[in-house]
Amino acid sequence: MCGIIGYTGSENAIPKIKTGLSVLEYRGYDSVGLAARTKEEVRVVKCRGRVEALAERLEKAPIEDAHSAIGHTRWATHGGPSDTNAHPHRVMRVTLVHNGIIENDRELKAECEARGIVFRSETDTEVAAAVIALRYEDTHDPVSAIRAATERMRGSYAFAMLFDDRPGEVYAIRQGSPLLVAVGEDGAYLASDLTALLPFTKTYARLAEGALARLSEDGVVLLPSDGSEAHPPVWQTTEMTAESAQKGGYAHFMEKEIYEQPDAIRQGLSPRIQNGCPDFSGDGIDRAFWREVRAIRIVACGSAMHAGLLGAHLIESLAEIPTTVHIASEYRYHPPVSVDGTLVLLISQSGETADTLAALRYAKAKGQRTLAIVNAVETTIAREADHRIYTYAGPEIAVATTKGYCTQLSMLYLIAVAIAEANGRMDRATMGETLTRLSFDVPRAMEEMFSHRARFRSVAERLSTEEHVFFIGRGADFAMSEEGALKLKEISYIHAEAYAAGELKHGTISLIEAGTPVVAIATDPTLYDKMESNVREVRSRGAYVILLCRRDAYFGEDAADVVLRLSGDSDTEVLFSALAAVQLIAYETATLRGCDIDKPRNLAKSVTVE
Ligand code: G6P
Repeated sequence: MCGIIGYTGSENAIPKIKTGLSVLEYRGYDSVGLAARTKEEVRVVKCRGRVEALAERLEKAPIEDAHSAIGHTRWATHGGPSDTNAHPHRVMRVTLVHNGIIENDRELKAECEARGIVFRSETDTEVAAAVIALRYEDTHDPVSAIRAATERMRGSYAFAMLFDDRPGEVYAIRQGSPLLVAVGEDGAYLASDLTALLPFTKTYARLAEGALARLSEDGVVLLPSDGSEAHPPVWQTTEMTAESAQKGGYAHFMEKEIYEQPDAIRQGLSPRIQNGCPDFSGDGIDRAFWREVRAIRIVACGSAMHAGLLGAHLIESLAEIPTTVHIASEYRYHPPVSVDGTLVLLISQSGETADTLAALRYAKAKGQRTLAIVNAVETTIAREADHRIYTYAGPEIAVATTKGYCTQLSMLYLIAVAIAEANGRMDRATMGETLTRLSFDVPRAMEEMFSHRARFRSVAERLSTEEHVFFIGRGADFAMSEEGALKLKEISYIHAEAYAAGELKHGTISLIEAGTPVVAIATDPTLYDKMESNVREVRSRGAYVILLCRRDAYFGEDAADVVLRLSGDSDTEVLFSALAAVQLIAYETATLRGCDIDKPRNLAKSVTVE
């Protein structure tokens, strides 16, 4: 949710921090700042606003000769967005940036105030800086000061720190919030996100929980808590390129990521389909694993939870395994009633969502078996779950997820087939056909949908001046409606609600008046009659209906105000075509409204607080 970048080495640190902050800005973007070590002092520049605002300040008052610096881009939690609340925070000889939340900050603040500290901001971060600074005054040793101070803190943190009398050194520690260190030819780096390191180096290491690192021109060392000898991290190399995290000619990351979906599906599925069968052996999961599954609890947040709703529908209809879906932040309030063979299936694009992580830890503590579907590799959820399946969608930068959701859905589809196969509920021929559709025909159908941009644009012209939009559907189409409504409200700020088409008449239909737009999704031929009645119900009350249906559906052009026909011949392709349609409707509508597509207000890409 917030982003951290740090550098120390032989080069000018300022351009590096600015580059890193620009890459990280999608994680949080209400304020930004940096602290740089010059020959004489540690200088802090920070402000409310985005990286551009910081760059303007730096142009007016340039920082020369800084070879070590830390930077931060913020999504406010404690204290609103303001110049003062922006990071870094400086207390005595310690300057620090922070991701996460210190839960006992009030108690720590009172202790620091008793020792004479006067706080300027409303943040828990300044309290953390003070606790470390006071310990540092006592010990003059950064390592013992950091250890002693963090032992007092509850909550989650990733800190990057400069100590006034340790020029050339940057310190880092993490607990509960991700932090990576890296080495390049010209020095050492740290960042909260791998994408921020890609412009500089491909050699990185993820800090383990509780790990403390010191960066200097000579590289990175880890300083074990048991006092044993400092040692370098175990380095890894990433295949990801800085370009793969750039826009590549598209107007927005969201548009690029929508168009990357067909390839992302292929990339995730191809290593997992062997001889016409699902094969998760590369993930360490064999056929017996699926056979043992008796019930599934899907746990996730936001769009990942919506993918879960559709996944549950697929698992129950193909594999006949009872499946429930839970909002991650609510999971702990459900009694952990589970039959033998219950699998808790966590879904997270970022692998760092705090609510999902807390639910995972709760499930593990209750002795439940866990499997995580994650995109960002080696992230906390992926590492802590008993088993993990990566979606391999590549970096997703736009805050509103598209390819993350799409690949979660395709992976859930494959899992549904795997369970159905393992339990003898799907014959070979049906399985072969289903997997061919999923891995070959679905990507093609989505690509075909992209060629109808003009039609989505004209729907968007109608929607862009509206205040309220309803999405309706039945069965899988209801689950898809949930995602369609979320996409629209996230990025266009139009109030959108999804309703089970049959439920609208039990109250909410009172909101339909002349011209109210209703997006009706009808991809299931067995439900056409009922959907037709629901469309009539709202039209007769004045609704303006946009109907998304199969191309061979019997609905005439007069069945709705706009009839958008979806690509593909089977349920499988049409489902993903409907996804492309609702994504493009949201994207085009938000573009026409002049919204900040990739960084919608009040949101953050990876929400690492509960
Ligand atoms: C945030 C994002 C949503 C996302 C949700 C879950 O709220 O704004 O777009 O769906 O987190 O994220 P995850 O990374 O766990 O899939």
